[in-house]
Amino acid sequence: MRSLLQQCCYLAAGLLLLIAFWPPAVAAATEKEILLQFKGNITSDPYNSLISWDLDADQCRDYSGVFCDPFGNVNKIVLWNTSLAGVLSPALSELKSLRVLTLFGNRFTGNIPQEYQELTTLWKINVSSNALSGPIPEFLGGLPSIRFLDLSRNMFEGQIPSSLFSVCEKTKFISLSHNNLSGTIPIIINNCVNLEGFDVSFNGLSGELPSQICEIPSLDYLSVRNNMLTGSVEEQISSCQRLKLLDLGSNLFTGNPPFRVLELEIMC
Ligand SMILES: *[C@@H]1O[C@H](CO)[C@@H](O)[C@H](O)[C@H]1NC(C)=O
Ligand SMILES: *[C@@H]1O[C@H](CO)[C@@H](O)[C@H](O)[C@H]1NC(C)=O
Ligand SMILES: *[C@@H]1O[C@H](CO)[C@@H](O)[C@H](O)[C@H]1NC(C)=O
Ligand SMILES: *[C@@H]1O[C@H](CO)[C@@H](O)[C@H](O)[C@H]1NC(C)=O
Repeated sequence: MRSLLQQCCYLAAGLLLLIAFWPPAVAAATEKEILLQFKGNITSDPYNSLISWDLDADQCRDYSGVFCDPFGNVNKIVLWNTSLAGVLSPALSELKSLRVLTLFGNRFTGNIPQEYQELTTLWKINVSSNALSGPIPEFLGGLPSIRFLDLSRNMFEGQIPSSLFSVCEKTKFISLSHNNLSGTIPIIINNCVNLEGFDVSFNGLSGELPSQICEIPSLDYLSVRNNMLTGSVEEQISSCQRLKLLDLGSNLFTGNPPFRVLELEIMC
């Protein structure tokens, strides 16, 4: 015979299930509503780039810069050189199939919302050439599907968080160039075992270039131009001979690169 305690447990489990599957009081926003919330946070649209984003239009067919997968879910937002101003709407985090967010050449301010950590399908973020500011969001390093991350030409400041490279095995390209970053390049960058390009040029980075970075077998392109990196360049780049482009110019390195300048397109 079942004990009273066991029966109580079954009852409690049953109740929990009931609560878990109870219909929510408020239906989740539709993808069109989410896009219109994104538009709602745009304060200036000088070229009327979002004029087609209308409540009566079909977001997959009619909205310029919006692309959907065969199931009718938004999977790409591509709005570049459109000079849109405003903040990035946190609502975008509810797009469950978003793979590409390309917004370079706009005037977005503020930071990338924390809510975007929900965008587990996100494959590419390109917010180059905006006016985003604050620290590099740590959660970007935990996005499980990310391949391309371009935060260049903004006003991000502070240190490069080590956590940016915590779930990095699939990432192919990271650019943080032309920001106002300080501190050192985290050694944990060598977690990014499939990295092909890494660009941190035009910042205020100091310390040494971690020599481990060139041990990443897929790395082709590395630019640290225009920072304040120090130490012996011979030691730091001894393992960089496989690279196609290595740009070390305008730093505070001592010594000369240990291999011939012409063999590798090495810029000092
Ligand atoms: C962005 O839009 C939301 C409504 O969707 C609003 O609550 C919020 O204040 C807006 N943010 C800014 C900075 O305008
Ligand atoms: C975007 O605009 C910038 C500055 O006007 C220009 O240099 C760049 O070529 C444009 N990008 C594209 C893809 O047209
Ligand atoms: C982001 O856009 C800029 C401007 O067109 C481009 O140069 C850069 O390669 C893009 N980055 C990625 C990762 O696609
Ligand atoms: C860059 O960051 C430093 C602090 O690290 C600050 O003093 C400086 O004003 C910033 N520069 C710009 C252009 O924002």
